[in-house]
Amino acid sequence: MAEELDRRILAELDVTGHVNSYDFATKLGVDHQLVVGAVKSLQSVGDVIHVEQKRKERWETTGEGNEVAERGSHEAIVFHAVDRDRGTLQADLMKSSPNAKVGFSKAMSAGWIRLDKEATVHRKVESITDTVQELLKAIRDGRVGDATDAQLKDLKKRKLVSLVIIKSLDVTKGTNFSTSVQKLETDLTPEMLTAGNWKDKKFKEYNFDARGVLPASGHLHPLLKVRTEYRQIFLEMGFTEMPTNNFVESSFWNFDALFQPQQHPARDAHDTFFIKEPKCAHEFPMDYLERVKKVHSEGGYGSQGYKYDWKIEEAKKNILRTHTTAVSARMLYKLAQVFAEGKASLDLLHLTRLSLQDKFKPVKYFSIDRVFRNETLDATHLAEFHQIEGVVADYDLTLGDLIGVLHQFFSKLGIKKLRFKPAYNPYTEPSMEVFSYHEGLKKWVEVGNSGVFRPEMLRPMGLPDDVSVIAWGLSLERPTMIKYGIDNIRDLIGHKVNLQMVYDNPLCRLNKTTKT
Ligand code: PHE
Repeated sequence: MAEELDRRILAELDVTGHVNSYDFATKLGVDHQLVVGAVKSLQSVGDVIHVEQKRKERWETTGEGNEVAERGSHEAIVFHAVDRDRGTLQADLMKSSPNAKVGFSKAMSAGWIRLDKEATVHRKVESITDTVQELLKAIRDGRVGDATDAQLKDLKKRKLVSLVIIKSLDVTKGTNFSTSVQKLETDLTPEMLTAGNWKDKKFKEYNFDARGVLPASGHLHPLLKVRTEYRQIFLEMGFTEMPTNNFVESSFWNFDALFQPQQHPARDAHDTFFIKEPKCAHEFPMDYLERVKKVHSEGGYGSQGYKYDWKIEEAKKNILRTHTTAVSARMLYKLAQVFAEGKASLDLLHLTRLSLQDKFKPVKYFSIDRVFRNETLDATHLAEFHQIEGVVADYDLTLGDLIGVLHQFFSKLGIKKLRFKPAYNPYTEPSMEVFSYHEGLKKWVEVGNSGVFRPEMLRPMGLPDDVSVIAWGLSLERPTMIKYGIDNIRDLIGHKVNLQMVYDNPLCRLNKTTKT
């Protein structure tokens, strides 16, 4: 098509010596932009054609103007609706046509009709000439010359016509004019080089203003982009990522190791997805499991425990993990193991406690991964979501350390104002909900949960008595929805996700200098 147009433009130039892109497009019945494109491509081929920009103004009838051209002006319609002999009640006349009100006042000022004291409208003249209709017909058919400037102004005021500006190109023959244009080469190929015929070819000039073609590539989902930002913050703070690649977890690691009693409501079918196949996990560190059993049923380490009959059958049940704190529990247990092994070798050598301290290495861990809860679904809740979790284990950590690290963490997200509210988790004491002041919403919103892990959780693992562990968690979905202005979680995950949203969304840069 494009080449075909090139040829036709050149043929027309050859005959008439002049082509206007707009008129030519109208004549051929093709889109004006196509002709403009063809002219531009001819223009790039040396001096074949000469091009000048043209700006034309043209009167066109509007939608309403076309209707008037068809059916007559509003005032003419009103005039014809008035009964020739007895006249028509004004109220009835107003109902006779959609634009009767305008038509009535125009017909009055034109002197076509009059209104008597009984509110009846009468014709004042025998017949009328509907000039407005005639003018609009003429303009519609391209005969603007029939209208005076004053008439055009009036029609424009009545929104029956409008002045449109048409930019077009005026084309005349160039110094190298020819009806057959050699196609310019765009690439210097190895074949041309070996054959040597590149010498006879004409090459297209570089267009440094051209936009490059966007390379096809994959696109990260907003959740993954925000995850990357959080990961970066943890890495900057010296945290190490925990392995979170097990969605299926035993109740033991998800609940029991965390000192969550077996009758805890969160365990029942409303909140937890239980696995049917395989229903149970079988491999546990049995000595540790015994200590967990003991701390639940009898207490220890200064605690009374829950004083109930702890059952291994309950701990064995496989579930989809309900929080990533299950992973933290596994990692802390591992850490205690390393310490215990070190301690054993030290005991053998009868070393002092001072050198023993060196054997426990303080750690900073984080994870960002998926968790599952059997919840009622709504605009902000799904049965699966992502948790962000930070854990620090060191000697003598206090609530003050937790508050400090939370301030540091959230300030890296641009959140400076924090407030803490006492809360309850079975595995932390004290526990705090974290609130931040949202400048946009002008209120305090909950941004996370945190606490100091209980001795009932840490001591059975075998961590040193004076090591404490502080931790906090938040959801990944919430900051992502705020960041990308998504107010229904189903637009973020699931079958209703618009892939264009994933394609178009910009890189995530959490606003680190101002409030978020
Ligand atoms: N596990 C908690 C939750 O699911 C979050 C949390 C993590 C709380 C660590 C305290 C400490 O909400």
